[in-house]
Amino acid sequence: MKQLLLTAHAIHAGPLILVNRQYPYRESGETALVPVGETPERMERRAAALLSMLMEEIGGWRQITAVSGWRSRKEQQAIWDQSVHDNGLAFTRTYVAVPGHSEHQTGLAVDLGMKGEDLDFIRPDFPYDGMAGAFRRRAAAYGFVERYPAGKETVTGIGHEPWHFRYVGVPHAAVMAENGLTLEEYLPFLQQYIHGERACVYRGGGREIALSYIPAREDGTTRIEVDSEKPYALSGDNVGGFILTEWRG
Ligand code: DAL
Ligand code: ZN
Repeated sequence: MKQLLLTAHAIHAGPLILVNRQYPYRESGETALVPVGETPERMERRAAALLSMLMEEIGGWRQITAVSGWRSRKEQQAIWDQSVHDNGLAFTRTYVAVPGHSEHQTGLAVDLGMKGEDLDFIRPDFPYDGMAGAFRRRAAAYGFVERYPAGKETVTGIGHEPWHFRYVGVPHAAVMAENGLTLEEYLPFLQQYIHGERACVYRGGGREIALSYIPAREDGTTRIEVDSEKPYALSGDNVGGFILTEWRG
């Protein structure tokens, strides 16, 4: 076993952070950004790598392009201002996150569009069939979810965005997709599984993966024990705790 010390700072980093109107993104300046395929867009290193692997599997880059990946807060502000000017406040609040509160600032989100003449930057065309459908069928296997689904507008605070994908990692994307949960709903779901008490066990691909939640201690010194012989991953939730993912073999 190995003891880990989880710092208060780490609550705000990792692939499962919730960034929305309620929870702003806390920039750390430590995110490594790399290009997404052949596009000028960039994403966080692991998200970009998994997206490229998915695209390679389906031959996706022939028809799909990354319209928007990582954005600075300043860029998000410029997009917001331009959209308010062009489309009005109601439209903008529906399709553009408030500056400081956009997942694009994390490097974990990407807007995808079908290659074509006139790509709409805010609402690119990304349907549910053809190559986009092929992408959707494999997205969860690579850790991606459609972040703003139809019917969940009041939960996410954002309109239906068929083009916006968020990297949350495996197997979280599959658990979310199988249970029809947005990130706003998935984090409270995981909070039922307190580390050390019980775990949510995901079975897939001949593997067992244990998911559990660790509430952060007020004094910023949260300690846990993990099995150091087996792979594990930790992410903050950007709210008040951590999610532990343990591969049991
Ligand atoms: N379109 C999404 C909500 C954003 O601006 O982050
Ligand atoms: Zn987006």
